[in-house]
Amino acid sequence: MKTDLKISPSLLAADFSNLELELEKVNQSDADWLHIDIMDGVFVPNISFGFPVLKYVAKLSQKPLDVHLMIVQPEKFLREVKELGTMMMNVHYEACVHLHRVIQQIKDAGMKAGVTLNPSTPVSMLEDIINDVDMVLLMSVNPGFGGQKFIENTINKVRALRSLIDRKQADVLIEVDGGVNLETGARLVEAGVDVLVTGSTVFKAPDFREMVHQLKSLAH
Ligand code: DX5
Ligand code: ZN
Repeated sequence: MKTDLKISPSLLAADFSNLELELEKVNQSDADWLHIDIMDGVFVPNISFGFPVLKYVAKLSQKPLDVHLMIVQPEKFLREVKELGTMMMNVHYEACVHLHRVIQQIKDAGMKAGVTLNPSTPVSMLEDIINDVDMVLLMSVNPGFGGQKFIENTINKVRALRSLIDRKQADVLIEVDGGVNLETGARLVEAGVDVLVTGSTVFKAPDFREMVHQLKSLAH
């Protein structure tokens, strides 16, 4: 069993009327990263928050930023993402015509590079890029909204990705995002996931810290 499971709480599920308090909860917990969902209303049918707000979020967060860009042409915002102090910049496979170039640009800017797959995009599309990325983020819901139901086929995709990583001897983390709770989380850990993104499960829990602790304990 894994002992190094990471938890990345998704800010999208936080109470925006009191972001400082919500970020304090994250800071005080065993969460490893802070997951930030940026949307443009084009790549996904929703808009979340932009850089003027995120500048303050970044200032208040003591956790490394795991930024998930659900936008077209994400390379246009490379500088803004970098200026937040981002640790991991995740771009969608479906949003990048020249994915290899974008991955190199992210790494040249001094960030780790993640590639994200929609539920309908097969893991096999990563065959020729897997050795260039630091992480693969598998969407287990259609991106754009929190609180959706986990898509079961994600478990098969985690297994397929684990086997691609092993075959290519790649040094790549597997992250899953959407509908993650204690039940789906346990099965994802068993399938070989390294990082669980979780929004509603932690932010709507009566005790944020305790829920993060329980999710982390799935690895033991
Ligand atoms: C969806 C976002 C997710 C979302 C997850 O587009 O990428 O990060 O916040 O929310 P839950 O955990 O509630 O499904
Ligand atoms: Zn996300």
